[in-house]
Amino acid sequence: MSKFKVYITRQIPEAGLALLRERFDVSINPDDRPLTRSELLTNIAEADGVLCLLTDKIDAEVFDTAKKARGFANYAVGYDNMDVAEATKRKIPLSNTPDVLTNATAEMAWALLFSAARRVVESDRVMRSGAWKGWGPLQFIGQDVTGATLGIIGAGRIGRAFAMKSRGFDMNVVYTDEYPCTELEEKLGARKVSLEELLSTSDFISIHVPLMPSTRHLIDEKALRMMKPTAVLINTSRGPVIDENALVKALKEGIIAAAGLDVYENEPKAAEGLADLPNVVMTPHTASATFDSRNGMAVKAATNLIAMVEGRRPPDCINPQIYSS
Ligand code: DGY
Repeated sequence: MSKFKVYITRQIPEAGLALLRERFDVSINPDDRPLTRSELLTNIAEADGVLCLLTDKIDAEVFDTAKKARGFANYAVGYDNMDVAEATKRKIPLSNTPDVLTNATAEMAWALLFSAARRVVESDRVMRSGAWKGWGPLQFIGQDVTGATLGIIGAGRIGRAFAMKSRGFDMNVVYTDEYPCTELEEKLGARKVSLEELLSTSDFISIHVPLMPSTRHLIDEKALRMMKPTAVLINTSRGPVIDENALVKALKEGIIAAAGLDVYENEPKAAEGLADLPNVVMTPHTASATFDSRNGMAVKAATNLIAMVEGRRPPDCINPQIYSS
């Protein structure tokens, strides 16, 4: 019997590839870059399953083209790149990679928070340039973290992990979410507050919501103006949650003190002027880039794809309603 064919839109860690190769005919984008739209459509046309990335738009045109595909496994926990409603209508299963990147992403949010609060990147640049002339009382003064108010927008898996890691810093934690979070309230004494209260009282604000129509530009000019002039804003979720042009203006005009960003509104580009600002620390969407997380994502995506191609419900199904009659 001929093997099922699966297509992988970009090289992923071997841990996941090996699982797929044991069972299927595997083809992979040979180049270390996202596929163009026409390459994507051409390569998936005969696939029985597709392992895709957050940089691939998985929509009606893709489903029309990949007629044999029994499922699409996203190599990411976020799945705003996928048209879930369209897939569900067609009863095509979709999956993502939760849990394995929770701590890595939360840790990167802390790395950005400390870098922005204590001006690590600015200081590093001065050292490397040879411009430092010796210790001075007024140099590179930043924000205290210990005892400060930490505002968490979104108390899902990553938001909670991020919040729990504040324990060593004795912070006053506030959060927004649709539902109360018992873990944070019991273990940290955190308070669920309105977005307005969080924005106006927090010293550090970290965003952990998925990108949806209701969260696009959640942080716009008005929201930025509600923040303290000393506030530090961190984003490791999705770029379009922040109006990036409004953020550039806010950072330039001192409406807030600093930002730490791992994600951008129009990746791979950053908004005009952002990279020129000294009070922003930027990483290239690498919050999940640890060996364990990326291997874990590869194994999860492969395991999900195997289940879908073999006609079973994937462990991390995004649209499980397709299985109910
Ligand atoms: C995700 O998984 O959604 C991240 O953005 C990339 O790991």
